[in-house]
Amino acid sequence: MAAALIESVAHLRDQLQRMRQSGTHIGFVPTMGALHAGHATLIERARRECGAVVVSIFVNPLQFDRRDDLERYPRALAADLSLCSSLGVDVVFAPSSAEMYPQPPVCTVDPGRLAEHCCGRYRPGHFGGVATIVLKLFEMVQPGTAYFGEKDAQQLAVVRCLVRDFNVPVRIVGVPTVRESDGLALSSRNQRLTAAERAAAPALYGALTTAREAVATGVVDAEEVRQHVTAAIAPGSARLEYVEVVEPATFQPVARIDTTVIIAAAMWVGNTRLIDNVSCEPPRQR
Ligand code: PAF
Repeated sequence: MAAALIESVAHLRDQLQRMRQSGTHIGFVPTMGALHAGHATLIERARRECGAVVVSIFVNPLQFDRRDDLERYPRALAADLSLCSSLGVDVVFAPSSAEMYPQPPVCTVDPGRLAEHCCGRYRPGHFGGVATIVLKLFEMVQPGTAYFGEKDAQQLAVVRCLVRDFNVPVRIVGVPTVRESDGLALSSRNQRLTAAERAAAPALYGALTTAREAVATGVVDAEEVRQHVTAAIAPGSARLEYVEVVEPATFQPVARIDTTVIIAAAMWVGNTRLIDNVSCEPPRQR
């Protein structure tokens, strides 16, 4: 059956209220569209676990720190709708910017120190924009469970903190990153890569894998681990923006790796910024 396309908040609330009244558990997958196999994995998981599945498609201007990135962000509503229908999605909520932000928002969410490092340091305002739109979407959809990709590990940490701090009754599920056969994490931004950039892109995951192996063999000094990543990305075709070793829930950097950590990095290839991360633990934790 075709997914129902809903563009207004009032219509969405009305439709979902009826589902909730009949006891249906609503699973929610928030997206910015240009859906790929990574999104499909989130949707399939929601489909297996919930009575109804809602996917939102909204390119949120509040979370873009660069105007050109917002303008170049891929949009593919027709293809997204047909993918959602094929995966058994019940409702696709695709509002306009005017529907989501009738006035510029005065009250926004501040993710505090969760946004101090990694992407938060290089994309000022980004996680405030994410937290604000996710809270708005949770209010509109009122899902029982919401699904987020682990590729955006810092975003996932922000969302987990958001629901905890604001007592939002939504269960948050993190879903493992889906990768191409050469390791590149799926991302809507991959569409923008030229052939040469696409060839350079897997270096990011390759470097992170090298670092994870170093931790697995007993390297505990976070700076040494960072150097493994830096050394593995040859300057020229790609430029490493940052690599940090952080505690998974707070995204605060650690100096010594004596428990599970996330190694997170961002890399530029041409005009496209790619992010990725790996979770790793010292040998005695295994
Ligand atoms: O991960 C994304 O696609 C976006 O950041 C999200 C969670 C849909 C908020 O706009």
